[in-house]
Amino acid sequence: MTERVERLVKSLASNHRLQLEEYQELVEAQSPETAAILVEQAVAVRREIYGNAVYVRGLIEVSNICKNDCLYCGIRRSNSHCDRYRLSLEDILSCAAEGYRLGFRTFVLQGGEDPFFTDQVLSSIVTALKSAHPDCAVTLSMGERSRESYQLLREAGADRYLLRHETADRAHYETLHPAGMSFDNRMRCLRDLRDLGYQVGCGFMVGSPGQTSRTLAKDLKFIEEFKPDMCGIGPFVPHKDTAFRDQPAGTVEQTCYLLSIIRLIHPPVLLPATTALGTIHPEGRELGILAGANVVMPNLSPVSVRKKYELYDNKICTGEESAQCRDCLSARMASVGYEIVTARGDIKK
Ligand code: 5AD
Ligand code: FES
Repeated sequence: MTERVERLVKSLASNHRLQLEEYQELVEAQSPETAAILVEQAVAVRREIYGNAVYVRGLIEVSNICKNDCLYCGIRRSNSHCDRYRLSLEDILSCAAEGYRLGFRTFVLQGGEDPFFTDQVLSSIVTALKSAHPDCAVTLSMGERSRESYQLLREAGADRYLLRHETADRAHYETLHPAGMSFDNRMRCLRDLRDLGYQVGCGFMVGSPGQTSRTLAKDLKFIEEFKPDMCGIGPFVPHKDTAFRDQPAGTVEQTCYLLSIIRLIHPPVLLPATTALGTIHPEGRELGILAGANVVMPNLSPVSVRKKYELYDNKICTGEESAQCRDCLSARMASVGYEIVTARGDIKK
Protein backbone atom coordinates (compact mmCIF):
# COMPACT_ATOMS: atom_id res chain seq x y z
CA MET A 1 0.00 0.00 0.00
CA THR A 2 1.34 3.39 -0.93
CA GLU A 3 1.66 6.25 1.50
CA ARG A 4 -0.93 8.10 -0.50
CA VAL A 5 -3.54 5.36 0.01
CA GLU A 6 -2.74 5.25 3.69
CA ARG A 7 -3.34 9.00 3.84
CA LEU A 8 -6.69 8.57 2.08
CA VAL A 9 -7.83 6.00 4.63
CA LYS A 10 -6.77 8.23 7.53
CA SER A 11 -8.51 11.20 6.01
CA LEU A 12 -11.68 9.17 5.45
CA ALA A 13 -11.61 7.88 9.02
CA SER A 14 -11.29 11.35 10.49
CA ASN A 15 -13.37 13.47 8.10
CA HIS A 16 -15.91 10.91 6.85
CA ARG A 17 -15.52 12.22 3.34
CA LEU A 18 -13.30 12.16 0.29
CA GLN A 19 -13.45 13.73 -3.12
CA LEU A 20 -14.96 11.74 -5.95
CA GLU A 21 -11.53 11.08 -7.49
CA GLU A 22 -10.20 9.99 -4.12
CA TYR A 23 -13.02 7.49 -3.66
CA GLN A 24 -12.17 6.13 -7.07
CA GLU A 25 -8.51 5.83 -6.12
CA LEU A 26 -9.42 4.05 -2.91
CA VAL A 27 -11.66 1.60 -4.77
CA GLU A 28 -8.84 0.93 -7.22
CA ALA A 29 -6.34 0.49 -4.39
CA GLN A 30 -8.13 -2.58 -3.05
CA SER A 31 -5.61 -5.08 -1.70
CA PRO A 32 -5.45 -7.26 1.39
CA GLU A 33 -3.24 -4.62 3.06
CA THR A 34 -5.56 -1.72 2.33
CA ALA A 35 -8.56 -3.83 3.36
CA ALA A 36 -6.84 -4.60 6.67
CA ILE A 37 -6.37 -0.97 7.66
CA LEU A 38 -9.91 -0.08 6.56
CA VAL A 39 -11.29 -2.92 8.67
CA GLU A 40 -9.30 -1.84 11.69
CA GLN A 41 -10.75 1.69 11.49
CA ALA A 42 -14.27 0.55 10.58
CA VAL A 43 -14.49 -1.95 13.42
CA ALA A 44 -13.23 0.63 15.90
CA VAL A 45 -15.90 3.21 15.02
CA ARG A 46 -18.64 0.61 14.87
CA ARG A 47 -17.62 -0.68 18.31
CA GLU A 48 -17.78 2.82 19.76
CA ILE A 49 -21.36 3.29 18.61
CA TYR A 50 -22.85 -0.20 18.73
CA GLY A 51 -20.47 -2.28 20.85
CA ASN A 52 -20.63 -5.89 19.72
CA ALA A 53 -24.38 -5.79 19.03
CA VAL A 54 -25.75 -7.09 15.77
CA TYR A 55 -29.35 -6.14 15.04
CA VAL A 56 -31.76 -8.59 13.48
CA ARG A 57 -34.58 -7.80 11.08
CA GLY A 58 -37.15 -10.45 10.24
CA LEU A 59 -37.63 -10.49 6.49
CA ILE A 60 -41.06 -11.38 5.16
CA GLU A 61 -41.10 -11.79 1.39
CA VAL A 62 -44.69 -10.82 0.69
CA SER A 63 -44.90 -11.25 -3.08
CA ASN A 64 -42.72 -12.16 -6.04
CA ILE A 65 -45.12 -10.61 -8.51
CA CYS A 66 -43.49 -7.58 -10.10
CA LYS A 67 -44.48 -5.15 -12.80
CA ASN A 68 -40.85 -4.17 -13.35
CA ASP A 69 -38.27 -5.81 -15.50
CA CYS A 70 -34.90 -4.99 -13.95
CA LEU A 71 -32.33 -6.83 -16.01
CA TYR A 72 -30.52 -8.43 -13.08
CA CYS A 73 -33.48 -9.67 -11.09
CA GLY A 74 -34.88 -13.19 -11.01
CA ILE A 75 -38.45 -12.06 -10.32
CA ARG A 76 -38.51 -9.63 -13.24
CA ARG A 77 -41.81 -9.51 -15.12
CA SER A 78 -40.49 -11.22 -18.22
CA ASN A 79 -39.23 -14.29 -16.35
CA SER A 80 -41.91 -16.79 -17.31
CA HIS A 81 -40.19 -19.56 -15.30
CA CYS A 82 -40.83 -17.77 -12.04
CA ASP A 83 -43.60 -19.44 -10.01
CA ARG A 84 -45.52 -16.44 -8.69
CA TYR A 85 -47.08 -16.11 -5.23
CA ARG A 86 -48.48 -13.50 -2.92
CA LEU A 87 -48.95 -13.81 0.85
CA SER A 88 -52.31 -12.97 2.41
CA LEU A 89 -52.74 -10.64 5.37
CA GLU A 90 -53.19 -13.73 7.55
CA ASP A 91 -49.93 -15.24 6.25
CA ILE A 92 -48.06 -12.03 6.96
CA LEU A 93 -49.49 -11.70 10.47
CA SER A 94 -48.65 -15.28 11.29
CA CYS A 95 -45.04 -14.88 10.06
CA ALA A 96 -44.75 -11.78 12.23
CA ALA A 97 -46.27 -13.53 15.26
CA GLU A 98 -43.77 -16.35 14.87
CA GLY A 99 -41.00 -13.77 14.48
CA TYR A 100 -42.17 -11.96 17.58
CA ARG A 101 -42.01 -15.19 19.60
CA LEU A 102 -38.47 -15.67 18.34
CA GLY A 103 -37.48 -12.20 19.56
CA PHE A 104 -37.66 -10.10 16.40
CA ARG A 105 -38.67 -6.47 16.94
CA THR A 106 -38.35 -5.29 13.35
CA PHE A 107 -40.26 -6.73 10.44
CA VAL A 108 -39.28 -5.99 6.89
CA LEU A 109 -41.98 -6.50 4.29
CA GLN A 110 -40.24 -6.96 0.98
CA GLY A 111 -41.75 -7.70 -2.38
CA GLY A 112 -41.83 -7.01 -6.05
CA GLU A 113 -43.79 -4.04 -7.33
CA ASP A 114 -47.03 -5.96 -7.20
CA PRO A 115 -50.02 -3.82 -8.22
CA PHE A 116 -52.21 -5.81 -5.83
CA PHE A 117 -50.61 -3.84 -2.99
CA THR A 118 -52.54 -0.63 -3.47
CA ASP A 119 -52.15 2.08 -0.86
CA GLN A 120 -55.27 0.84 0.84
CA VAL A 121 -54.21 -2.80 0.93
CA LEU A 122 -50.68 -2.06 2.09
CA SER A 123 -51.80 0.52 4.66
CA SER A 124 -54.18 -1.97 6.20
CA ILE A 125 -51.36 -4.52 6.45
CA VAL A 126 -49.11 -1.96 8.14
CA THR A 127 -51.89 -0.94 10.53
CA ALA A 128 -52.63 -4.55 11.42
CA LEU A 129 -48.93 -5.30 12.03
CA LYS A 130 -48.45 -2.22 14.18
CA SER A 131 -51.53 -2.94 16.26
CA ALA A 132 -50.52 -6.57 16.79
CA HIS A 133 -46.95 -5.55 17.72
CA PRO A 134 -46.87 -1.90 18.82
CA ASP A 135 -43.33 -2.27 20.15
CA CYS A 136 -41.98 -3.30 16.75
CA ALA A 137 -40.66 -1.31 13.83
CA VAL A 138 -42.20 -1.95 10.43
CA THR A 139 -39.91 -1.53 7.45
CA LEU A 140 -41.23 -1.56 3.91
CA SER A 141 -39.21 -2.59 0.88
CA MET A 142 -41.85 -2.48 -1.81
CA GLY A 143 -40.26 -0.39 -4.50
CA GLU A 144 -41.06 2.90 -6.15
CA ARG A 145 -44.37 4.54 -5.25
CA SER A 146 -45.82 8.03 -5.34
CA ARG A 147 -45.14 10.56 -2.62
CA GLU A 148 -48.81 10.37 -1.64
CA SER A 149 -48.51 6.63 -1.27
CA TYR A 150 -45.41 6.90 0.91
CA GLN A 151 -47.23 9.47 3.00
CA LEU A 152 -50.27 7.25 3.54
CA LEU A 153 -48.06 4.33 4.49
CA ARG A 154 -46.16 6.49 6.91
CA GLU A 155 -49.44 7.61 8.46
CA ALA A 156 -50.46 3.97 8.73
CA GLY A 157 -47.39 3.46 10.90
CA ALA A 158 -44.50 2.40 8.66
CA ASP A 159 -41.24 3.44 10.31
CA ARG A 160 -38.59 2.68 7.73
CA TYR A 161 -38.25 2.15 4.00
CA LEU A 162 -35.59 0.35 2.01
CA LEU A 163 -35.10 1.30 -1.61
CA ARG A 164 -31.69 0.59 -3.02
CA HIS A 165 -30.59 3.28 -5.43
CA GLU A 166 -28.81 0.44 -7.33
CA THR A 167 -26.20 2.82 -8.84
CA ALA A 168 -25.62 6.55 -8.54
CA ASP A 169 -24.49 6.76 -12.17
CA ARG A 170 -27.31 7.61 -14.54
CA ALA A 171 -25.89 5.83 -17.59
CA HIS A 172 -25.13 2.73 -15.54
CA TYR A 173 -28.63 2.83 -14.08
CA GLU A 174 -30.04 2.81 -17.57
CA THR A 175 -28.08 -0.30 -18.55
CA LEU A 176 -29.46 -2.19 -15.55
CA HIS A 177 -33.09 -1.17 -16.01
CA PRO A 178 -35.62 -1.17 -18.83
CA ALA A 179 -36.61 2.04 -20.58
CA GLY A 180 -39.73 2.53 -18.43
CA MET A 181 -37.72 3.02 -15.23
CA SER A 182 -35.87 6.20 -14.42
CA PHE A 183 -32.93 7.19 -12.30
CA ASP A 184 -34.66 10.47 -11.51
CA ASN A 185 -37.74 8.74 -10.16
CA ARG A 186 -35.58 6.47 -8.01
CA MET A 187 -33.86 9.48 -6.49
CA ARG A 188 -37.20 11.30 -6.13
CA CYS A 189 -38.52 8.36 -4.10
CA LEU A 190 -35.53 8.45 -1.74
CA ARG A 191 -35.92 12.19 -1.17
CA ASP A 192 -39.66 11.90 -0.57
CA LEU A 193 -39.15 9.08 1.91
CA ARG A 194 -36.61 11.15 3.80
CA ASP A 195 -38.92 14.21 3.78
CA LEU A 196 -41.81 12.17 5.13
CA GLY A 197 -39.85 11.17 8.20
CA TYR A 198 -38.98 7.58 7.36
CA GLN A 199 -35.66 6.08 8.34
CA VAL A 200 -34.41 5.44 4.82
CA GLY A 201 -32.15 2.80 3.33
CA CYS A 202 -30.41 2.98 -0.03
CA GLY A 203 -27.81 0.62 -1.45
CA PHE A 204 -26.40 -1.19 -4.43
CA MET A 205 -25.06 -4.48 -5.71
CA VAL A 206 -21.30 -5.01 -5.74
CA GLY A 207 -20.04 -6.21 -9.11
CA SER A 208 -23.21 -5.49 -11.06
CA PRO A 209 -22.64 -5.68 -14.83
CA GLY A 210 -21.13 -2.42 -16.07
CA GLN A 211 -20.01 -1.26 -12.63
CA THR A 212 -16.62 0.48 -12.58
CA SER A 213 -14.43 2.17 -9.99
CA ARG A 214 -15.97 5.41 -11.26
CA THR A 215 -19.58 4.32 -10.73
CA LEU A 216 -18.64 2.97 -7.29
CA ALA A 217 -17.02 6.29 -6.43
CA LYS A 218 -20.32 7.95 -7.29
CA ASP A 219 -22.18 5.49 -5.04
CA LEU A 220 -19.85 6.38 -2.19
CA LYS A 221 -20.26 10.12 -2.83
CA PHE A 222 -24.01 9.66 -2.88
CA ILE A 223 -23.93 7.82 0.45
CA GLU A 224 -21.71 10.55 1.91
CA GLU A 225 -24.18 13.23 0.86
CA PHE A 226 -27.48 11.42 1.48
CA LYS A 227 -26.42 9.90 4.81
CA PRO A 228 -28.91 7.04 4.70
CA ASP A 229 -30.03 5.48 7.98
CA MET A 230 -29.53 2.05 6.41
CA CYS A 231 -27.43 0.90 3.47
CA GLY A 232 -27.91 -2.48 1.83
CA ILE A 233 -24.97 -3.70 -0.19
CA GLY A 234 -24.40 -7.23 -1.33
CA PRO A 235 -22.73 -8.93 -4.26
CA PHE A 236 -24.48 -9.18 -7.59
CA VAL A 237 -25.27 -12.86 -8.16
CA PRO A 238 -26.41 -13.91 -11.63
CA HIS A 239 -29.81 -15.48 -12.10
CA LYS A 240 -30.17 -18.20 -14.71
CA ASP A 241 -33.34 -16.75 -16.25
CA THR A 242 -31.94 -13.28 -16.89
CA ALA A 243 -29.77 -11.84 -19.64
CA PHE A 244 -27.00 -11.48 -17.05
CA ARG A 245 -26.87 -15.24 -16.46
CA ASP A 246 -23.26 -15.49 -17.67
CA GLN A 247 -21.96 -12.43 -15.88
CA PRO A 248 -19.56 -13.01 -12.99
CA ALA A 249 -20.83 -12.58 -9.43
CA GLY A 250 -19.46 -9.84 -7.21
CA THR A 251 -16.74 -10.88 -4.79
CA VAL A 252 -16.66 -11.25 -1.02
CA GLU A 253 -13.45 -9.22 -0.92
CA GLN A 254 -14.85 -6.22 -2.73
CA THR A 255 -18.13 -6.34 -0.81
CA CYS A 256 -16.30 -6.37 2.52
CA TYR A 257 -13.94 -3.63 1.34
CA LEU A 258 -16.91 -1.42 0.50
CA LEU A 259 -18.68 -2.27 3.78
CA SER A 260 -15.64 -0.94 5.67
CA ILE A 261 -15.53 2.21 3.55
CA ILE A 262 -19.25 2.88 4.05
CA ARG A 263 -18.91 2.42 7.82
CA LEU A 264 -16.22 5.11 7.78
CA ILE A 265 -18.23 7.46 5.56
CA HIS A 266 -21.26 7.32 7.83
CA PRO A 267 -20.33 5.75 11.19
CA PRO A 268 -23.86 5.23 12.64
CA VAL A 269 -25.29 3.64 9.46
CA LEU A 270 -27.17 0.36 9.88
CA LEU A 271 -25.34 -1.92 7.53
CA PRO A 272 -26.53 -5.46 6.85
CA ALA A 273 -24.34 -8.43 6.08
CA THR A 274 -26.70 -9.62 3.36
CA THR A 275 -28.07 -12.98 2.35
CA ALA A 276 -26.39 -12.50 -1.04
CA LEU A 277 -23.04 -12.27 0.75
CA GLY A 278 -23.89 -15.49 2.60
CA THR A 279 -24.77 -17.06 -0.73
CA ILE A 280 -21.42 -16.53 -2.45
CA HIS A 281 -19.35 -17.64 0.55
CA PRO A 282 -20.25 -20.05 3.37
CA GLU A 283 -19.09 -17.51 5.95
CA GLY A 284 -20.00 -14.43 3.95
CA ARG A 285 -22.21 -12.87 6.59
CA GLU A 286 -19.63 -13.38 9.33
CA LEU A 287 -17.02 -11.77 7.08
CA GLY A 288 -19.39 -8.87 6.46
CA ILE A 289 -19.82 -8.29 10.20
CA LEU A 290 -16.06 -8.48 10.67
CA ALA A 291 -15.66 -5.81 7.97
CA GLY A 292 -18.02 -3.35 9.69
CA ALA A 293 -21.61 -4.47 9.11
CA ASN A 294 -23.97 -4.58 12.12
CA VAL A 295 -27.28 -6.00 10.90
CA VAL A 296 -28.48 -9.41 9.71
CA MET A 297 -31.83 -10.14 8.13
CA PRO A 298 -32.95 -13.72 8.65
CA ASN A 299 -35.84 -14.99 6.62
CA LEU A 300 -39.27 -15.25 8.26
CA SER A 301 -41.18 -16.11 5.09
CA PRO A 302 -43.21 -19.32 5.04
CA VAL A 303 -40.90 -22.13 3.92
CA SER A 304 -43.37 -22.96 1.13
CA VAL A 305 -42.58 -19.72 -0.73
CA ARG A 306 -38.91 -19.22 0.05
CA LYS A 307 -37.59 -20.88 -3.06
CA LYS A 308 -39.88 -18.78 -5.18
CA TYR A 309 -38.49 -15.46 -3.98
CA GLU A 310 -35.37 -16.06 -5.97
CA LEU A 311 -33.75 -12.77 -6.94
CA TYR A 312 -30.54 -14.66 -7.79
CA ASP A 313 -29.40 -18.27 -8.08
CA ASN A 314 -28.69 -20.54 -5.11
CA LYS A 315 -30.09 -18.22 -2.45
CA ILE A 316 -29.45 -19.63 1.03
CA CYS A 317 -31.95 -20.30 3.83
CA THR A 318 -34.71 -21.41 1.47
CA GLY A 319 -35.25 -24.74 3.22
CA GLU A 320 -35.02 -23.70 6.86
CA GLU A 321 -37.66 -22.81 9.41
CA SER A 322 -37.53 -19.32 10.91
CA ALA A 323 -36.37 -20.65 14.28
CA GLN A 324 -33.52 -22.49 12.56
CA CYS A 325 -32.40 -19.32 10.79
CA ARG A 326 -32.47 -17.37 14.02
CA ASP A 327 -30.45 -19.99 15.89
CA CYS A 328 -28.08 -20.43 12.99
CA LEU A 329 -27.40 -16.70 12.83
CA SER A 330 -26.97 -16.36 16.60
CA ALA A 331 -24.37 -19.12 16.48
CA ARG A 332 -22.67 -17.59 13.46
CA MET A 333 -22.44 -14.16 15.09
CA ALA A 334 -21.22 -15.66 18.36
CA SER A 335 -18.51 -17.52 16.44
CA VAL A 336 -16.95 -14.19 15.47
CA GLY A 337 -17.49 -12.48 18.82
CA TYR A 338 -20.75 -10.63 18.16
CA GLU A 339 -24.12 -10.87 19.81
CA ILE A 340 -27.54 -10.75 18.23
CA VAL A 341 -29.75 -8.29 20.08
CA THR A 342 -33.51 -8.27 20.02
CA ALA A 343 -34.29 -4.59 20.05
CA ARG A 344 -35.93 -2.37 17.50
CA GLY A 345 -32.41 -1.24 16.68
CA ASP A 346 -32.97 2.30 15.49
CA ILE A 347 -30.00 4.22 14.19
CA LYS A 348 -27.90 5.84 16.94
CA LYS A 349 -27.21 9.41 15.96
N1 5AD B 1 -28.04 -10.35 -7.31
C1 5AD B 1 -27.91 -9.69 -6.14
N2 5AD B 1 -28.83 -8.83 -5.67
C2 5AD B 1 -29.95 -8.66 -6.40
N3 5AD B 1 -31.02 -7.88 -6.21
C3 5AD B 1 -31.88 -8.08 -7.23
N4 5AD B 1 -31.38 -8.98 -8.10
C4 5AD B 1 -30.17 -9.35 -7.61
C5 5AD B 1 -29.15 -10.21 -8.07
N5 5AD B 1 -29.26 -10.89 -9.22
C6 5AD B 1 -31.09 -6.89 -5.13
C7 5AD B 1 -31.37 -5.50 -5.69
C8 5AD B 1 -32.68 -5.14 -5.03
C9 5AD B 1 -32.69 -6.01 -3.79
C10 5AD B 1 -34.03 -6.27 -3.21
O1 5AD B 1 -32.10 -7.20 -4.24
O2 5AD B 1 -30.34 -4.60 -5.32
O3 5AD B 1 -32.79 -3.78 -4.69
FE1 FES C 1 -30.94 -19.19 7.64
FE2 FES C 1 -28.46 -19.93 8.63
S1 FES C 1 -29.44 -18.00 8.64
S2 FES C 1 -30.09 -21.17 7.87
